[in-house]
Amino acid sequence: MKEQLSKIKSEALAAFGQVSTPAALDELRVKYLGKKGELTAVLKQMGRLSPEERPAMGQLANDVRAALEESIERAAQKLAAAALEARLKAEALDVTIPGKAPKQGHRHPMYIALDEIKDIFVGMGFTVLDGPEIELASYNFDKLNAEEGHPSRDWSDTFYFDRDSRVMLRSQTSPMQVRAMETMPLPIRIIAPGRVYRKDEVDATHSPMFHQVEGMVIDKNVTMADLKGTLNLLAEELFGKGTVTRFRPHHFPFTEPSCEMDVQCHKCGGAGCPTCKGEGWIELLGAGMIHPSVLRMSGIDPEQWSGWAFGMGLERTAMRRFKIADLRLIFENDVRFLEQF
Ligand code: PHE
Repeated sequence: MKEQLSKIKSEALAAFGQVSTPAALDELRVKYLGKKGELTAVLKQMGRLSPEERPAMGQLANDVRAALEESIERAAQKLAAAALEARLKAEALDVTIPGKAPKQGHRHPMYIALDEIKDIFVGMGFTVLDGPEIELASYNFDKLNAEEGHPSRDWSDTFYFDRDSRVMLRSQTSPMQVRAMETMPLPIRIIAPGRVYRKDEVDATHSPMFHQVEGMVIDKNVTMADLKGTLNLLAEELFGKGTVTRFRPHHFPFTEPSCEMDVQCHKCGGAGCPTCKGEGWIELLGAGMIHPSVLRMSGIDPEQWSGWAFGMGLERTAMRRFKIADLRLIFENDVRFLEQF
């Protein structure tokens, strides 16, 4: 019996050491330790031994069983470790492979121009305001000195929401002058960019929706010289040092005196070409000294305070800044166009 036991032990240990799958290991466990296994068969013969032999043989049989169980345990661990290793290898990720780059959008040239304008004015101490596109006619017209009957109030020019022409899509950013005067402490320095709407047909220079930037300063002893100095600086910062401007007299109901500022054409240097329609100049903005009645209507004493304001077309500025020939390109959002800026 002793030989039997040691034979089983050495055979089993050798077999366990070579096993390569969990299923095969399980089969071997059944073969040696199962109910009908080889070791079990030997143990069943114990009864035939004499009482003197039994303890020593029992001890030996238990030792063999323990050795087999321990060996099975070790083999199982080895198999599990190998399986894990194999899985890690199979599922390995190469983190150095370049990823798929998401398609990036592109900043719109008009907003690039707007950011530049904001930077220029914020640098001079201006605050940037946002205002409603759906505006009261009283703010768009009345409080800006454009009374009933003023041509710009006509239904053929303006988008109204109601029959009595009280609520409208703002036709200019100038109502933000009034909103600033009514709510902000003096002195005031603001710009207010945003969309405006007019009943215009779409062509190379017109659109029923476009953008303006309003600017306004109210302080003591503010003069036309401040207006010209600031707007000349704006032109040079936007379009480059030495940019030539000219101020022409004009009329707006809410400024007196009023003017328009032109920039010399970048294409022909003032000689006249298709870009400037032969003029040599491109109109950029309207401006002027705020009319005393407008100050008074917003509760500001024109004897103590004076101010200037301007309103510039943003599309036009971006077209001049980036040498874009057709306004429609600004709105079409063709990526091939936008990517160029
Ligand atoms: N609001 C005027 C326009 O749309 C421009 C302007 C603004 C003129 C401020 C003078 C002062 O044409």
